Parts: sequence; structure tokens; C-alpha cells
Amino acid sequence: MATKAKCIGILTAGGDSPGLNAAIRGVGKAALGYYGMKVDGFRDGFRGLIENRRLDLDRATLSGILTTGGTILGTSRDKPHRMVINGRTRDMTGVIRDNLKKWGIDCIVCLGGGGTQKSALRLHQAGVNIITLPKTIDNDVAMTDASFGYATALDIATEAIDRLHSTAHSHHRIIVAEIMGHRAGWLTLGAGLAGGADVILIPEIPYDVETIAEAIRQRSKHGSNFSIVAVAEGAMSRHDARIFASAERNLERAKTLNEKLEVKREIAALEVRHQGNTMRLARHLEELTHLESRVTILGHVQRGGTPSAADRMLATRLGTACADLINAGKYGVMVAARGDDAEPVPLEKVAGKRKSVPPGHSWVESARRVQTCLGD
Ligand code: F6P
Repeated sequence: MATKAKCIGILTAGGDSPGLNAAIRGVGKAALGYYGMKVDGFRDGFRGLIENRRLDLDRATLSGILTTGGTILGTSRDKPHRMVINGRTRDMTGVIRDNLKKWGIDCIVCLGGGGTQKSALRLHQAGVNIITLPKTIDNDVAMTDASFGYATALDIATEAIDRLHSTAHSHHRIIVAEIMGHRAGWLTLGAGLAGGADVILIPEIPYDVETIAEAIRQRSKHGSNFSIVAVAEGAMSRHDARIFASAERNLERAKTLNEKLEVKREIAALEVRHQGNTMRLARHLEELTHLESRVTILGHVQRGGTPSAADRMLATRLGTACADLINAGKYGVMVAARGDDAEPVPLEKVAGKRKSVPPGHSWVESARRVQTCLGD
């Protein structure tokens, strides 16, 4: 077993999400006040480990941050193995390992989503003592019941749907609300269910626009001449979903680095083409139903502001469990939420996996039972 950690580092990577500061506080206060470790924060994600952007996370710095949004450490989407340094893309894995040793950091704690778990596994394989916490508003980190950030974003998106109801109703309009979530439908499905959206469209269930239009026409026929459509940013028509799925199969089959890069470029081009899909969908529904339509893109509002009580609890629970694991010398793991408890899961089991909404999930079935159209 590794020697007991005396000094630890913390960084936040990927998109920010509510609860990050609560988690920094949870890890920091437990490590510092309970276990007597020294705690350093590194600014701006993995870049902080290259450029020594360090700050002392002492009692004063850790105080008063539980309720604040964003991250006091700043974040970035930099990846250790593909970092742009002076205009050149370089693999900085070895530099990070050597820096941490030089600075006497016994373990680095990374708070992040799917991309961060992959980066953490690479560093772990390079010999870095590393431990991660799952954060994302998308709720798509594998092997954990929950990730902090999701609960707050769910509240925000649900409130938006509530508010859109009265204006859609007053003007007899279709309002299409685009909700974040990258390639996962948890946020849209959750907010759609909680807010009583009439149509919920998620990436896991490709849609047919005629099916949606018919559901809206049926509502009008029964006296409800307005509809709320909650659409995930990654939701797609059946046609587009087939094209994406074939590109992803090609990526799995690609053998050489060049082949992989070519397919990745193809997928990036498809993603660019997908932008504006919500506007196109709204226009199409307007043509098919003769109801006026409007689009509301919730965007980064869903990531901002004070974390909900549920996220503060989760972040604190996972953060303090993280300090316990560091004290026990358990590295190379993500601290996963399991019911009311937390448990370490090897990074190998988390990295590169995405938790999508499974077909037939109970939330999907509930939506069907209340006659919500899922577009299929
Ligand atoms: O992963 C969180 C998330 O908010 C996704 O839902 C969204 O697709 C993405 O980040 C947006 O990223 P950025 O803030 O870099 O535009």
C-alpha cells in the first residue's frame, strides 16, 4: 500500500456544473481538518498542473463556498495527452507526473465528467496517484447512481418548462425548449416528466417528425391547442440517427490513427450540421400542424448559479468519502454514489463509457403512461 498522503491537489475539469465548490469544500475540509493533510488547488483544469497555477486551499479559502455556483478553481477542457502549448499539440502526461512528484503532491483529485475520467485513467496508467469525483449536468457518467450538477440543472430546466406552459397556452403556440445533455437524454427526460412536457425527444429514441405532429394535432382536437416540446440538444430524427450510428461504427472499426482521425472529422462535421436542428424541427412542426411555433434554448442557464440542496448533499458526501479513500491509500478510482453510500469504482470501469437512458427505462415508461409523445 502507498504511504499515507500528506499533501493533495484538487482540480476541476470539463464544463462547470453546480456543486463543484461544494465538492472542493467536502474533499478539502475533510482532508485538511479531519485528516491533517495539506490541500492545494490547481487552476483551470489539467493546465494548472503544467503551469503550476496553484493556490493554497486553507480554511479561509474553503469557507463560504458551499452555496456558490461555478468553480473557485476555474476549469478547462484541456486533455493531458493532447494539450496545446505555444501553439503545438503535445502529450504532457509525463510532465504532469514529474511535476506532481517534484511538488510533493501525493494524490491529485479530479472533479469532472466523462472526458475527465478518461484523462484520469491515462494519468493513473502513467503512475500518478489519482482519484476522481463524477460531476456533470448530463448525468451520463457510467458506474455511479448520480453525478452532482444534474439535480440543479433538472430544477432549472423544469422551472423553464413550467414557465413556458403559460405563454404557450395564452398564444396557442408550440414551444420547443432545447435542453442540454450532450449525447444523453437524462436532463430532457427528467425535466420533461417533471414539467409535464407534451413531447419529449431524447438522443436514445430517434424521432419521426410526423409522429410528433400527429400527437400535437390530437391535442388540438381534444381542446389543447398548444404544446410544449422538450428536445434534447442531441436528439435526432431516425434518418440522422442512422447516419451518426454508421459513423460511430466506422470509428470502432478504424484501425490506424489516420483512419480514426478521418472518422472523427466526419463525426465533427455531422455535429456541426446538427446545430440548428431544434429551429428546423420547430419550423417543420409549424408547417405540419399550422400552429405557430417558438424556440427557447435554455443553454448555459442550466449550468449556472447556486447548487440545489440535493447537489450540495451529494457533492459533500462524495467529497468527504474521497478524503477517506485518500487516507486509506486507495487510488485509481472514481468515488461513485451508490444509494446513500459512496464506493470506489476502478477508473478502467468508468473511462470511455457513457450512461445513456436504457430503452424501456422506468422514466420512459412513465412518460408513455401519461401519454407523452416520445416521437417514436
Ligand atoms: O457536459 C455538460 C454540457 O453542458 C453539455 O450538456 C453540453 O453539450 C456541453 O457541456 C456544452 O459545452 P460548452 O460549455 O463547452 O459549450
